[in-house]
Amino acid sequence: MIRYEQKNLHPWINDDVLKALQPQVESACELLASRKGPGGDFIGWYDPSKVVPAAELDAIKEASKRIQDQSELLVTVGIGGSYLGARAVLEGLPWDEASENGVDIDFAGHHMSARDTEMLLDHLDDYEVSINVISKSGTTTEPAIAFRLLKAYMEDRYGKDEAKNRIYATTDAKKGALRKLATEEGYATFVIPDDVGGRFSVLSPVGLLPIAAAGFDIDALLAGAMDSFKTYGASTDVLTNDCLRYAASRVALYRQGKAIEILSTFEPAFHYLIEWWKQLNGESEGKNRSGLFPAGCEFSTDLHSMGQWIQEGQRNAFETFLIEEKPSASVVVPDTGDDLDGLAYLAGRELSEINLEAWKGVSLAHYDGGMPNSSLIVESMTTRTMGELIHFFERATGISCYLQGVNPFDQPGVEAYKANMFALLGKPGFEAQAQALRARL
Ligand code: PA5
Repeated sequence: MIRYEQKNLHPWINDDVLKALQPQVESACELLASRKGPGGDFIGWYDPSKVVPAAELDAIKEASKRIQDQSELLVTVGIGGSYLGARAVLEGLPWDEASENGVDIDFAGHHMSARDTEMLLDHLDDYEVSINVISKSGTTTEPAIAFRLLKAYMEDRYGKDEAKNRIYATTDAKKGALRKLATEEGYATFVIPDDVGGRFSVLSPVGLLPIAAAGFDIDALLAGAMDSFKTYGASTDVLTNDCLRYAASRVALYRQGKAIEILSTFEPAFHYLIEWWKQLNGESEGKNRSGLFPAGCEFSTDLHSMGQWIQEGQRNAFETFLIEEKPSASVVVPDTGDDLDGLAYLAGRELSEINLEAWKGVSLAHYDGGMPNSSLIVESMTTRTMGELIHFFERATGISCYLQGVNPFDQPGVEAYKANMFALLGKPGFEAQAQALRARL
């Protein structure tokens, strides 16, 4: 279960501030549940039991077994919502949650770095490889380039027929270049539902296939999301429903001039969970010249860099800690029988317990420095808890956006860079834009 503690948001946030938002929160909940709000055609993620039909879920499990039989490494090709969710889960879960036959997962298609791509292609020869290419639109340039390279590699290495048996495409049911290519080549395919947008798609085949191939229990992940769906869907009371309290608090803080939310963790394994959360919020909320800027910090590392800013810099931010209370890993500070390093007082203590004390000390120091902060606390990060957390954040994002009158489910601003890039690269149809851009370079 997730616990939400917000003592350190006082006086910026108190019960009166939240109660004043109750009518708006109720409308936001209604817009989400009824799918009648802006972007209502993209709320297919809302009930996790309805995202993937049972037959498709079985097919995902079968494909993941085939991948495990055929390969040691699955390269997942995708960008944004087509990759970050899976990476957040795969890197955020402890490895003892995965079965032994799980394969390693590598990621491609989320950049156009020649250096990184060359390294990836070089090291593939050391493993038996399968590929999962993921793109809802089927036309995104970065994964399309990576897949062109990987397809050529696979055909060269395994021959066309064997390559075909090792390539899995996750895309729209009908539209897009990837659907056409997959059909023509005869790849196994999985469907991204029409009503599920990229950054809300981790609990669809987009995330489930690589997560299952890595050996994690996707039924437990979905069960966790269902726990969350039921718990936080049971009431619209902003004071007692932690998901609504979190969403309403962040919007109230934004309205008080706190324009940045820093999601901070003391667990480096949550790096991609934070990256996924940044996309979920940044792309959903940053519209109409408004919206919170989602940032992330990893402590203790960033306490020795960003910690200074958080303690004493501009007071236009607030912090949300993402805490795991009882990690499964156990490391004890050794008793060396002396005190040469001045650490005898820590001898015999668990590292995770020391890490928790660091969180408590940091949260109070930052509060004393005028940085409002609250904490989302999970007891232990299991596959089920991860599902719960994912759905918690998705609901909170939907509610926050509706509280701010924003469509959470589109991303018109992302198109601007693509058009400029196409123009500069000479894509047919972009000639006039290319000329205008070149004049400015
Ligand atoms: O959330 C989104 O919709 C985006 O981040 C997309 O996931 C991202 O742009 C990748 O798009 P696609 O899956 O169409 O390649």
